[in-house]
Amino acid sequence: MRHERQMELLDRVAAAGPGMAGLHAEHSMVNPAAAYTDPGRFETEQRLLFREGPVFFALSCELPEPGHHRTASFDGIPIAVIRQPDGGLRAMVNACRHRGAPVLAPTAEPYGPVSALRSMSCPYHAWTYELDGTLKARPASYGSFDDVDRDCALHPVAVAERDGLVFVRPGGTEPIDLDAVLDGAADDLADFGIADQIHVESRVHTWNINWKLVLDTFTEVYHIRTLHRATIAPYFNSDCMIFEPMGRNMSATAFRKNILEEMDKPRPRRSILPYATIQYFVVPNALIVFQLDHFEVWRIEPIDVRTTRTTTSVYATSGPVNDDLRDHLIKNLDVLLEVTGTEDFPLMEQIQRNLDSGALPEVMYGRNEAALSHFHRSLDRLLQPGAKANPGADALR
Ligand code: FES
Ligand SMILES: [Fe+2]
Repeated sequence: MRHERQMELLDRVAAAGPGMAGLHAEHSMVNPAAAYTDPGRFETEQRLLFREGPVFFALSCELPEPGHHRTASFDGIPIAVIRQPDGGLRAMVNACRHRGAPVLAPTAEPYGPVSALRSMSCPYHAWTYELDGTLKARPASYGSFDDVDRDCALHPVAVAERDGLVFVRPGGTEPIDLDAVLDGAADDLADFGIADQIHVESRVHTWNINWKLVLDTFTEVYHIRTLHRATIAPYFNSDCMIFEPMGRNMSATAFRKNILEEMDKPRPRRSILPYATIQYFVVPNALIVFQLDHFEVWRIEPIDVRTTRTTTSVYATSGPVNDDLRDHLIKNLDVLLEVTGTEDFPLMEQIQRNLDSGALPEVMYGRNEAALSHFHRSLDRLLQPGAKANPGADALR
């Protein structure tokens, strides 16, 4: 992160005053509980945000070489993304054109580096496909399909890659407008050198909560002093994050309690990085977290209104990834998943049940939870009839 950007954030903390009140949003927000529980709302979110998309798929470094592939599903659509021999990416529906079997097995969990494919073979009747999805052969069919007048390539979907980030449009092939997707976060994300990361490991979990509760977890630090009193509370400020709206997206930075010690240094030598957890929310489903010496990324896949799959990944900022570095990064991932998995998400599951009971008509987001309000306002805007979630998506409606 550029020095002047770091100084902007540091100066805001230094000027924030008691309780970090200077970092508060102008307004609080009341959100209907139905935002987390209503199947109709969920169906609209799935269609507009996750089917028409675009959605975040992976970091480029998870698919570094030709034949490297990853799978995921959005609004039930199974998607495979494959690195091509020319270095580009192709995305396709991971369902065989014969009778619909998944051609590529779901990525095994937990997962690290992938092996490179030369072609793809369906596990049901062995139809084989090139890496770009075109049909290569129908072994042992002896002309049985010669009278089929269909192109039998795997159905393509749009994919786009910039600055180390990969997005797909699960529902179609209309090109992805990355300026609209990255909306305000593009410069910062480009600046972090995400394209040069090295993927170390990912873990997949399923939680019984609405997908937005996963992201809500990371939008405020107000809960740290109580929920995390036994773990991270001694180290982290629990008053307010540094929130920055970035169009539909946003950044929210948590920081250590001793951050203002940095103000004792001459300005050119100050850095926020040793104190900060800098998070970028790329709507709808990516949380990209910059720590001092590594990145963590959360990818969100909603399953149903109250079930969500999360993929949490850790990356090294430079190679080679020797055993010590790998151990260090995996320990970081373990701690992150331990705290969120034993403290945050079990409570979120209780919150989901309480909201599902219908006894609580609404929830409140305080002025000290600015990123939380922005996230939900941003979604509300994108879900309004006629909203331009992405100009290229119009043809899908
Ligand atoms: S379903 Fe794939 S070859 Fe038959
Ligand atoms: Fe938390």
